[in-house]
Amino acid sequence: IQRSFSSSVVRNVVIKNVTIIGGGQMGAGIAQVAASTGHSVTLVDMTDDILKKAMKGIQSSLRRVVKKKFSDDPESGDDFIQKVMQNVSTNTNPAAAVTSSDLVVEAIVENMKIKQDLFGFLDKMAPEHTIFASNTSSLPISDMASATSRPDRCGGLHFFNPVPMMKLVEVVATSSTSPETSESLLNFTKALGKTPVCCKDTPGFIVNRLLVPYMMEALRLHERGHGSKEDIDIGMKLGAGYPMGPFELSDYVGLDTIKFITDGWREKEPDNPLFAPSDLLNKLVSEGKLGKKSLQGFYKYSK
Ligand code: 3HC
Repeated sequence: IQRSFSSSVVRNVVIKNVTIIGGGQMGAGIAQVAASTGHSVTLVDMTDDILKKAMKGIQSSLRRVVKKKFSDDPESGDDFIQKVMQNVSTNTNPAAAVTSSDLVVEAIVENMKIKQDLFGFLDKMAPEHTIFASNTSSLPISDMASATSRPDRCGGLHFFNPVPMMKLVEVVATSSTSPETSESLLNFTKALGKTPVCCKDTPGFIVNRLLVPYMMEALRLHERGHGSKEDIDIGMKLGAGYPMGPFELSDYVGLDTIKFITDGWREKEPDNPLFAPSDLLNKLVSEGKLGKKSLQGFYKYSK
């Protein structure tokens, strides 16, 4: 870091202290990976109960990781888990959690107003050099950045589910993101052991822009009576090498999430056939059948 006494903060930030806002599946996964790679992590959510659940999730995911990584040395595996857990602290007060943060990653509800309020609030609390990143899957990062006085230090860090397993992170630069911020985010991603790709702040970035229309077309193909869910899933797994078929993957991602993303894009481009709705998807979501997390979506799951 080039230290300077000027008010200019256009510099490269080496990210050590990370604050993750949101202890859901994505937030907990990001916290886990950052803590596993020696970062000091503060995980923030609204209640201690949520945070307790998130810490439990991190621990059980670490056990799965360790079972493979330390298969012939379980003791070192236990030490590793303990060390990683020590790198994570929790806090229900976002203001207190950002006072020494180099990077804030928000992984909260996909609601622009709530994200803007959060970024606007944290902007006043966090040090000048702190970078703000969003893990949003489909909302414009620039709209969140505009709620802060630091749009040059805002960007996207889009992780994939399950975060500990998926090697990719999309690093999103808006038209205001400074090259130093992008570089810091790219370096952070590499320090996590992930592979970054650079994206523009466009709907769905790279992966979801291709993946979500693909999943929607699988649903519509099924609705047209041109294939059973099972055959479509087998087809894409064995014929295209996907680890999960589109129906399995939709259940895994969450049907409400797929619907939310598609509905948002259709509002912006009503005539784009890629964003056409699916009656079946709408019906399942309205019945609360949201996929794996609710134990029923296109398929049924046991706990
Ligand atoms: N934590 C730690 N380890 C995990 C894990 C987790 N949450 N999930 C899976 N694993 C590891 C474990 O080591 C597991 O071994 P275990 O059975 O001993 O615990 C190993 O993965 C294998 O898992 P499974 O046997 O359960 O199943 P698979 O071999 O199919 O692997 C998978 C699971 C990695 C999830 C694989 O199926 C896959 O890659 N699926 C596609 C996922 C994908 O496309 N994700 C992107 C979704 S889009 C998205 O996230 C963007 C958003 O914005 C919408």
